[in-house]
Amino acid sequence: MSDVLDDDQQVRVRIRGLNKSFGATRALKDVSIDFRAGRVHALLGANGCGKSTLVKILSGYHEPDSGEISPTGHGARERIAFVHQDLGLVPSLSVAENLGLACGFTIRRGAINWREQHRRAQKLLDDYGIATLASEAVGSLGPAHQSMIAIARALNSLPESGGVLVLDEPTARLPVSEVDHLLQMVRRVKARGVAILYITHRLEEVMQVADEVSVLRDGAMVFHGPTSTIDKEKLVGLIVNKAIRPPAARLATAARGIEPLLTVRGLSGIRLRGVDLNVGRGEIVGVAGLVGSGRSELGRLIFGLQKARAGSIRLRHADITNLSTRALVDMGLAYVPQERRSGVFHGLSVAENSVLADFGQLMSRIGIVPARERRAADEVVRSMKVKTESAGTPIENLSGGNQQKVSLGKWLRREVQLLILDEPTQGIDIGARTEIFNTIRGVVETRKIGALVFDSDLDILVDFCDRIIVMCDGQVVGEYHGAELTHETINRAVYKR
Ligand SMILES: Nc1ncnc2c1ncn2[C@@H]1O[C@H](COP(=O)(O)OP(=O)(O)OP(=O)(O)O)[C@@H](O)[C@H]1O
Ligand SMILES: [Mg+2]
Repeated sequence: MSDVLDDDQQVRVRIRGLNKSFGATRALKDVSIDFRAGRVHALLGANGCGKSTLVKILSGYHEPDSGEISPTGHGARERIAFVHQDLGLVPSLSVAENLGLACGFTIRRGAINWREQHRRAQKLLDDYGIATLASEAVGSLGPAHQSMIAIARALNSLPESGGVLVLDEPTARLPVSEVDHLLQMVRRVKARGVAILYITHRLEEVMQVADEVSVLRDGAMVFHGPTSTIDKEKLVGLIVNKAIRPPAARLATAARGIEPLLTVRGLSGIRLRGVDLNVGRGEIVGVAGLVGSGRSELGRLIFGLQKARAGSIRLRHADITNLSTRALVDMGLAYVPQERRSGVFHGLSVAENSVLADFGQLMSRIGIVPARERRAADEVVRSMKVKTESAGTPIENLSGGNQQKVSLGKWLRREVQLLILDEPTQGIDIGARTEIFNTIRGVVETRKIGALVFDSDLDILVDFCDRIIVMCDGQVVGEYHGAELTHETINRAVYKR
């Protein structure tokens, strides 16, 4: 164990020559990497390049085929704490209880000493500048605070002497407006001498927080160096290794010239007040707004997950206000949720997942013809550029981003009239993102359907939508299309109001 420390006092964990294959897929090829005290090491790469495989080897979930992790034995594992994308918190329990579950409870006279438990939890929160009470239910906290609690919990399990904190896409589920809170916490953790492995698809964050960057491509390390020696553009080149196609041109026609598909008038809910919105046939409309702006509520109201208090929603000529989700699906509404795991069924193959658009179909899948499945899967794999060994591969063997592509691709195949996409390319790498939006554009245009896109990444909306509506405090405060649709205008509209 001391061999590592003698060599370089700052190295907490060292990896040398790691190899890992799954069947014919070489997920990691001769990967070497060091984690140094007080340094943030960003690990980047396209979907399926091997990032999570590396994390899973560090956690002991996978055994490497060859290579060394030092300190050897259990030494390294005791020094590494993980925050996976699925945070593993219990929403109905308090912060103190959640921390207790992971780190142990203080027992006094045979019972949990809650006073002490709360005091310790509160101290941990205060230490890391997490502005929340230990008594609060985790489920009532915002997504950034939940992630921060998960990080605090992980840190609690590290030895006093310091260790490595592994964050696998910590900001993927956060709205851009909340990313700063998390980055501040990362800086605080770093200041305490913890080494941090930071996995993300958002390059902006890398430039802000990382000291070193490593880029994996098809399992091999193609770059490693200080962040100061590289810029965003070069990183994109290293990750994607091919020219990124430009976004398909947006519609030239002004919104009112398009045949209407979805017409929302005076819609009110809990926060939402008097929202008007149109989506035309062949049009992609983006909805921008900060957390609490009413953006998500609008999506829920349209898809029948919440009851409207006033106003109307029409799909072509039909009044669909307050219909059940089931009825809306039958009428041609499709909702692709943000949480990728709820979009795919583990235990089934890529092919099976490609034909199952909802749980009802899953139940009646006995009748599905394999040939049809295969054709569907081939189409999804091709159009979404899914990285998979074959269509028969179990979906859970695909990388996170590639599972997301299958989940999205199967919806695009369906006969729908309106696609509601919630953060559609979250967790999808920067190269595949354009391809996917161009595919969405193709489907929307050729079938003359409509798409409503909710995304907290304003740049994505600006690049890909025909029109953007901006929401604030439950109301529509702006609508932009054509030449007005610039990054600057939308950013100003969302942040400066
Ligand atoms: N259990 C498994 N069985 C078979 N193949 C696997 C398994 N786990 C991962 N793979 C394959 O290994 C490769 C690397 O996957 P990994 O999950 O490490 O990618 P990633 O870099 O984390 O991608 P993403 O950004 O999409 O999360 C992929 O081709 C994937 O399909
Ligand atoms: Mg991954």
